[in-house]
Amino acid sequence: MLTLGIETSCDETAAAVLEDGVCLRSNVIASQHDIHSKYGGIVPELAGRSHVDKIHFIIQEALKQAGKNLNDIDLFAVTQGPGLVGSLLVGLNAAKGLAFATGKPLIGVNHLEGHLLAIFLQEPVEFPFIGLIVSGGHTDLYRVNGFGDYRVLGRSRDDAAGESFDKVAKMLGWGYPGGPIVEKRAREGNPNAHHFPRAWLEKGSLDFSFSGLKTAVRTAIARRGKNGKGLSDSDIAAGFQSAVVEVLVAKALSACEQEQLDRIVLTGGVAANGALRQALQEAAEQRGVQCFVPKPILCTDNAAMIACAGTFRYRNAPPSASELLALDAHANFCV
Ligand code: KG4
Ligand code: ZN
Repeated sequence: MLTLGIETSCDETAAAVLEDGVCLRSNVIASQHDIHSKYGGIVPELAGRSHVDKIHFIIQEALKQAGKNLNDIDLFAVTQGPGLVGSLLVGLNAAKGLAFATGKPLIGVNHLEGHLLAIFLQEPVEFPFIGLIVSGGHTDLYRVNGFGDYRVLGRSRDDAAGESFDKVAKMLGWGYPGGPIVEKRAREGNPNAHHFPRAWLEKGSLDFSFSGLKTAVRTAIARRGKNGKGLSDSDIAAGFQSAVVEVLVAKALSACEQEQLDRIVLTGGVAANGALRQALQEAAEQRGVQCFVPKPILCTDNAAMIACAGTFRYRNAPPSASELLALDAHANFCV
């Protein structure tokens, strides 16, 4: 079974061809970083327009790299939400057009379910497991009992972890997206040069909060010596990153303890961060927990994960033809 996945929820225009739910034949991603970088964040209007410019080329490229043509595709899977509605609609309408023209089925996919299942493109993981999605829009902890069976254990009450990376980079004048540049600069800094706060919240809570940390970074930038001595940009990046990583790792392991599970899957754009990957792997190993992390290209937004989640959904409950044409985009969409 060949699935063509399409992802346009935010600032990546992506298409992928997947065989039998897990065998990746192509994975094409066009990022819009150059468009949004100078604004320090995503400009929704520009994101939508750029998707329109690129979507057909990206789909053609995914088919070409897989050595397939449109008529070989058995199923179209497209992100329905959550995301920017103007961006989602571009992918959704492209997918509807292709499904209509070829007479093949179309399935709408929740972007978060895509992140949760991305690991299956790399290796199988036995259910149940703890899933930690850390992206630009979400910081969510789930108990994953099976395909389509997810229970939220905790989530961010304010900023998502990725959003805080992006805001810190913006404060330091480093452009968008912030995560990769903060990670790079953090390697040159001293994480203990300044202690940034960790928001543990109430005892036993698996929720997150990163807005206080963001304010602490702003204050540290404003207060440091004007003579160029003292706290460097890299020290701030390192101190901020270690505060985020410490909380994510501790809460992920608390979730394992609470649910009495010894498997954890880390995913989402921030899971591309080397310091987070390493800290979670090490802490998990010490507690006898198995830790699974997709390779970075499958952590950040991609259409392979959408094709994967779409195939599983379709096998479990194929939608009717009337459902397909009614498929709509949702800015907020819970799994
Ligand atoms: O999953 P994703 O590609 O898109 C959303 O669903 O939001 O995540 C994007 C987020 C951005 O905030 C970006 O700064 C962050 O992931 N990110 C990183 C790294 N690479 C991307 N954060 C920390 N370290 C990284 N290496
Ligand atoms: Zn994402």
